[in-house]
Amino acid sequence: MSNSPHIKWLASGEPYSEQFQDYYFSTDGGLAETEYVFLKQNKFPQRFAQSDEYQETALIKIGETGFGTGLNFLVTLYHWLHTPEPKKPVHYMSVEKYPFSKVQLSRIYTLFSKQWPQLDEPCRLLLNAWPDSLSSQSVFEYSFFEQQFKLTLLSGDAQLELSALLPEHKHSFDAWYLDGFAPARNPDMWQQGLFNTLYQLSKPGTTLSTFTAAGFVRRGLTHAGFTINKVPGLGKKREILSGIYHN
Ligand SMILES: C[S@@+](CC[C@H](N)C(=O)[O-])C[C@H]1O[C@@H](n2cnc3c(N)ncnc32)[C@H](O)[C@@H]1O
Repeated sequence: MSNSPHIKWLASGEPYSEQFQDYYFSTDGGLAETEYVFLKQNKFPQRFAQSDEYQETALIKIGETGFGTGLNFLVTLYHWLHTPEPKKPVHYMSVEKYPFSKVQLSRIYTLFSKQWPQLDEPCRLLLNAWPDSLSSQSVFEYSFFEQQFKLTLLSGDAQLELSALLPEHKHSFDAWYLDGFAPARNPDMWQQGLFNTLYQLSKPGTTLSTFTAAGFVRRGLTHAGFTINKVPGLGKKREILSGIYHN
């Protein structure tokens, strides 16, 4: 059974979550925010380059909590596409409890096209691949550019789905984008068990970032084992969190 989210469409055309009473992204700087909070803090697109200074494995594995509209995925794909060859293949794995239906996503991408036409190609690629509906606890996998950029979307609860990855994916992720709704509205996405799972899926050098600077999130990620720093935010956001898994 499909589990698509209950959305209110704002006058601006943006989707707003009725369930969580929160915004998915902001059309006022949403793209710049994604680039700053998630790509820049995790040192993308530099790490996509074959000759990067980070000495990682041949494949970059990015994990995300909260796929939502896919904005972070689209922006990551856009920057990977614009990274000159030779570059590393990317596996983007995300988890989403309430995946948008194809009809909802199509409406959102019409808005993206007006706001951010540079995302047209990634939007078209993802929308063409998107299934008509995604049932709970299913997995959507799709490869772009001859397997060079792969998406795995786990449909279900973040903690349940990511902990189920442990046997196969322990110590294998290179970067995490933590993008649940605001912690006060969406506590399941900011719980200690999930932070511990993220740590177990990580390895020395794995980076992470999130838009929130909430004290309990910083302490929880630190308790899990990450070294976490507060860094200046963008625009109205005073601070955000950026972290790394040290040896
Ligand atoms: C701020 S939005 C994500 C925005 C998204 N990254 C984007 O680029 O549009 C937070 C997302 O977390 C999802 N979510 C909330 N609780 C969840 C849970 N327990 N497990 C997995 N996903 C969850 C919501 O449905 C929503 O899509």
